[in-house]
Amino acid sequence: HHTKLAELAARNAIAEEGGGPERRAREKKAGKLSARERIEFLLDEGTFEETDKFVTHRATDFGMDQQRVPGDGFITGHGRIHGRVVFVFAQDFTVFGGSLSEANAAKIVKMMDMAARVGAPVIGLNDSGGARIQEGVVSLAGYTDIFLRNTLSSGVIPQISAIMGPCAGGAVYSPAITDFTVMTEKTSYMFVTGPDVIKTVTHEDVTKAELGGAVTHNEISGVAHFMAHDDQECLATVRELLSFIPSNNLDDPPRRPTQDPADRADVALDTMIPEESNQPYDMVDVIRRVVDDGYLFEVQEHYARNIVVGFARMNGRPVGIVANQPAVLAGVLDINASVKGARFVRFCDAFNIPLITFEDVPGFMPGVQQEHGGIIRHGAKLLYAFAEATVPKMTVITRKAYGGAYCVMSSKHLRTDWNIAWPTAEIAVMGPEGAVNIVYKRELDAVVRRAQAVMPQGVSLTEEQKLEVLAEARREKVEEFRERFANPYVAAERGYIDAVIRPSETRRHLNTALDMLGTKREKNPPRKHGNIPL
Ligand code: COA
Repeated sequence: HHTKLAELAARNAIAEEGGGPERRAREKKAGKLSARERIEFLLDEGTFEETDKFVTHRATDFGMDQQRVPGDGFITGHGRIHGRVVFVFAQDFTVFGGSLSEANAAKIVKMMDMAARVGAPVIGLNDSGGARIQEGVVSLAGYTDIFLRNTLSSGVIPQISAIMGPCAGGAVYSPAITDFTVMTEKTSYMFVTGPDVIKTVTHEDVTKAELGGAVTHNEISGVAHFMAHDDQECLATVRELLSFIPSNNLDDPPRRPTQDPADRADVALDTMIPEESNQPYDMVDVIRRVVDDGYLFEVQEHYARNIVVGFARMNGRPVGIVANQPAVLAGVLDINASVKGARFVRFCDAFNIPLITFEDVPGFMPGVQQEHGGIIRHGAKLLYAFAEATVPKMTVITRKAYGGAYCVMSSKHLRTDWNIAWPTAEIAVMGPEGAVNIVYKRELDAVVRRAQAVMPQGVSLTEEQKLEVLAEARREKVEEFRERFANPYVAAERGYIDAVIRPSETRRHLNTALDMLGTKREKNPPRKHGNIPL
């Protein structure tokens, strides 16, 4: 028996050795944890159960039959995070550059199938040179087997990708289909084609970091959702993210006890909105004053900052927050903000996470670039996402709710369950200034003509006088318009707003609504799938 046990120990040691001490040292020097260390750090202590540790590739070309490492460069298995089962794989860059082979693709597929069967999240720790070049199309087949499972598991189990090294070529499309992507600063990059190919094809000069580093994908492309300084922070982010999310689409998100009273009032909210309605304020400040312990876990914090999305808790329940940000571009909805919002709303809806919308939106972004970029198509995504969502939906209008953006931002008409407004709300087709210019155009022209008519013969108004007359008349009309429409009461009279509340009591009202909505049941008509405008 001793020799059998010794053999097992020896085999385990070889598998754990990976690509050898030299390659491991190189990784360490770059500031990276090893694949095994990453898994240890990610999971609750001592919970990792490895599968397929002795799987090897079967390739023989290019001398590959002489180079076999048990596990074949991918570590797969399951363990627990906050006590809940998760499945995980980690690519080991020290073994053939963490490249994907027929054999290790099969390991991932096996694990993903198990995760789908039991309804548990899949976390991928990516660090790979892509398809294993020596295996050719067999490796590409392996990728595609994974993409298919990513797609079929979408909306069924949460899938999270950590990018902790290279992720290039076809490899990017697995993270792209998963729900969230976290990238490490300095040590990770993602691109479909690298700088060398780009140089040949388009003659552009670009570094790997500029092309597809963590900053690029968090700020410019929106491909990534989180940025982490190092491996530890990256893995901690994944753990925290999971604390807001259920294990699968049939579960409720995990509730946790809180010391923060459900009815806590915050008087600062009563004076949060500036006197002048074109002055900015920080919507994140509003959100923090409403949610449990002032804590918002922002998603895509660095992208399309005119909209804020993220997770928070209300009386211990995870909620998804969607909020216009008046401090950035006046909180206008543009292409990027619409897409960012829509994807988050659909994630929350798929995983039974109630949605709270904080609204202060002057409208959709005007401009040739936006129109030619397809703001119609992209803005429609946000509308579609809110409309199809059947989770509990609540909206708080703090100030502006204008035009098409009013309709889109989880309005009553989209089956939103609880729509409330602060007394500072302005709900109308457009702002008073714009409205007056259109509605009273003729009348204002006439005012100038009348002023001219009463002048003595041969004397005409100077341009300056004309402008003065016009400005005075406009002021009156704008005031009239503001009084009539720039308030929440016209909408409240129709029942489009369920209640106009004191801002300081927002938290109590939302928690009461969440309690009431705890048993909400709503279904969309049966169909193969909708056709969201992509
Ligand atoms: N298939 C097989 N082996 C690969 C590989 C791949 N796709 N990518 C990297 N490797 C191996 C290298 O041969 C090297 O092996 P060695 O340690 O025995 O010398 C090891 O992984 C490390 O690669 P290296 O190129 O030295 O690392 P680097 O940090 O300098 O560069 C990459 C990393 C990813 C930029 C570079 O390896 C690369 O361009 N790989 C190919 C990417 C690609 O086009 N893949 C196909 C896309 S689908």
